[in-house]
Amino acid sequence: MANVTITNHPLIQHKLSILRDKNTGSKEFRALISEIATLLCYEATRDLPLEEVEVETPVAVAKTKVISGKKLAFVPILRAGTGMLDGVLSLVPSAKVGHIGMYRDPETALPIPYYCKLPADISQREVFVVDPMLATGGSAIDAINQIKEYKPKSIKFMCIIAAPEGIKALTDAHPDVDIFCAACDECLNDHKYIVPGLGDAGDRIFGTK
Ligand code: PRP
Ligand code: URA
Repeated sequence: MANVTITNHPLIQHKLSILRDKNTGSKEFRALISEIATLLCYEATRDLPLEEVEVETPVAVAKTKVISGKKLAFVPILRAGTGMLDGVLSLVPSAKVGHIGMYRDPETALPIPYYCKLPADISQREVFVVDPMLATGGSAIDAINQIKEYKPKSIKFMCIIAAPEGIKALTDAHPDVDIFCAACDECLNDHKYIVPGLGDAGDRIFGTK
C-alpha cells in the first residue's frame, strides 16, 4: 500500500498560509510554490539508494556515499506542475525532466491529456511526478498511467495540497506510488475544487485569471 507523507514542517506550513491567501499576487505565489517544492523534495528523496565511494580529502581518504544508479527524473504535469520545477531542480540539478500535458474538462473535471515527452532513459530512473494540486486525482492517475508504460524504477508523487478524495483515488489506482504533500484539506466542492485549497493553481502561477 502507498505511503502518504504530509510534511507539516513549520517552514512549509508558514509558506502555505501565505500561498492560500487570495491577496497573494503571482510573483510571490510563484516564489512560494518553488520554495515549498524544494522543502517537499528534501523529504521525498529521503530514501534514495546510496553507494559507497572513496574520496581523497586534503587530509585522508574518506569512505563516503553518493546516490547510486542513473538517478532521478522530475515530471511536472502542465501547466501548474512547472511551477514546482525550479524548486526541485535546485536540490537535484542533474535530474532529467519530462513533461505531461493535461487539463481538466471544466464540465466533467476529467483530465484531457495533450502532451507527453519523457527522458529516453526513464526506465533507469526514479521518477518524481510534481503537481501542486491533487483534487479528484484524475490528472495524477492518468499521468502515472502514461509514465508506467515506460517502466521506470519507481514513481513518487509530490503535491502541495491534496484532497482526501484525490489521495484515495490515487492510492487505489497506484498503490505502489508514495505521495508527499504539504497539506491534506477538507474536501472537494461541487466544481471539484479543493476546500479551502488555494483556488486554481495554474491561473495563480501564470496570472491568467
Ligand atoms: C490542475 C492541477 C492538476 C489538476 C488536479 O490543473 O494543476 O493538474 O488540476 O485536479 P484533479 O486531481 O481533479 O485531476 P488544471 O486542470 O487546472 O490545468 P492547468 O494546470 O493547465 O491550469
Ligand atoms: N485544480 C486546481 O488548480 N485547484 C483545485 O482546487 C483543484 C484542481
